[in-house]
Amino acid sequence: MKTHVRVLTLALLCVSAAVVSGQVAGGPPPWAYGFTGPGTEPAAPPCAKDSKPLDCARLGAPRPKDVMHKLPDTERTFAEYDIHFDYGPSDWYPGDHPAMPEIVAHGRERDTLRACSLCHYPNGQGKPENAPVAGLPAEYILQQLQQFRDGTRRSADPRKANTNEMIQIARHLTEAEMQAAAEYFSSITWRPWIKVVETDMVPKAKPGMNGLFLPQPGNEKEPLGKRILEVPENPDFTERARAPRSGMVAYVPVGSVARGEQLVTTGGGTTVQCTACHGAALQGVGGTPPIADRQASYLARQLYDFQAGTRESAIMQPVVAKLTEDDIIAIVAYVGSK
Ligand code: HEC
Ligand code: HEC
Repeated sequence: MKTHVRVLTLALLCVSAAVVSGQVAGGPPPWAYGFTGPGTEPAAPPCAKDSKPLDCARLGAPRPKDVMHKLPDTERTFAEYDIHFDYGPSDWYPGDHPAMPEIVAHGRERDTLRACSLCHYPNGQGKPENAPVAGLPAEYILQQLQQFRDGTRRSADPRKANTNEMIQIARHLTEAEMQAAAEYFSSITWRPWIKVVETDMVPKAKPGMNGLFLPQPGNEKEPLGKRILEVPENPDFTERARAPRSGMVAYVPVGSVARGEQLVTTGGGTTVQCTACHGAALQGVGGTPPIADRQASYLARQLYDFQAGTRESAIMQPVVAKLTEDDIIAIVAYVGSK
């Protein structure tokens, strides 16, 4: 604990010494939240403190019962409907993880708590529009569930319905369920997941209803510009089969990985070396979470949420206070490529 406090003091000193103008201008960077621009996607369904979790969700048409899916390295075959079943989605690779606690496998239907494994996958790798939870320290998971509950972790973009649902889920969990889910996801080893590609041109892609960007049919390309585009390496596997071993490709502007490395390892006068707290390999230290090789859009959202203050953190807020959108893109490109 003592070293933690010492590192923090050092971090705060470094930040206050760096007088560089910055900050993301113009609101949440839409690409990180699964949107195409301000005002381009519909508002989230109304969600109040006493709402049932599912009332806060943006729901699509039911999945077909007669379309079957198969994945590599398993004999299993499931109907698309069962793969997306809210209270017990199909588990493709039961050997990849310990036995799931009830709340992770099935959720709690009478209170409309959808299964954790629906959005985070049974192995905790998670889809980019949700969050990666495998291999996080259990105490960190509990701390985050508590923050969702008490309103100190919200999305900076109010259109992000799935974060509203996550908040309501956290509010309905019992202490025992939180503990079981935290120990479960914490016990799973993270597997390599993100491929970072520097490029000028990217596949034309559009976000689905909950913010997962998918390449459009026709293989058309468009300029990447100033953003990161994160798409599944195999869109059908991810979107239709919820394939928990199939990762993401993050297209990033040319030069961003090297620029990011500079910021992450030295602070570059704008921020604090991330390695000071998250570890030399960014794999986490003690209760400080691992960030390496996690979903690029997720990481960018968190950095912006810290800056906007919708995700409260006395430790991370000074770290991100001066970051511009270009800085966030560069940092995330490097962290995602680790
Ligand atoms: C409907 C989809 C959905 C379900 C079901 C769901 N989550 Fe989440 N979860 C999310 C989203 C969305 C986020 C936040 C993403 C963000 O901040 O951008 C999140 C974030 C988290 C985080 C924070 C991760 C981090 O690195 O800080 C934890 C921990 C978590 N969820 C645990 C759970 C647990 C435990 C359950 C089951 C009781 C659960 N979630 C069920 C969508 C879901
Ligand atoms: C002074 C220590 C410290 C420094 C320096 C630091 N972090 Fe953190 N970071 C933390 C802690 C502790 C958390 C857990 C959240 C909390 O306690 O509020 C965290 C959380 C995060 C998260 C959220 C992880 C998740 O799963 O949601 C991201 C992303 C992150 N940090 C990125 C960075 C980056 C990038 C840098 C460098 C630019 C950095 N951090 C520098 C201590 C630090």
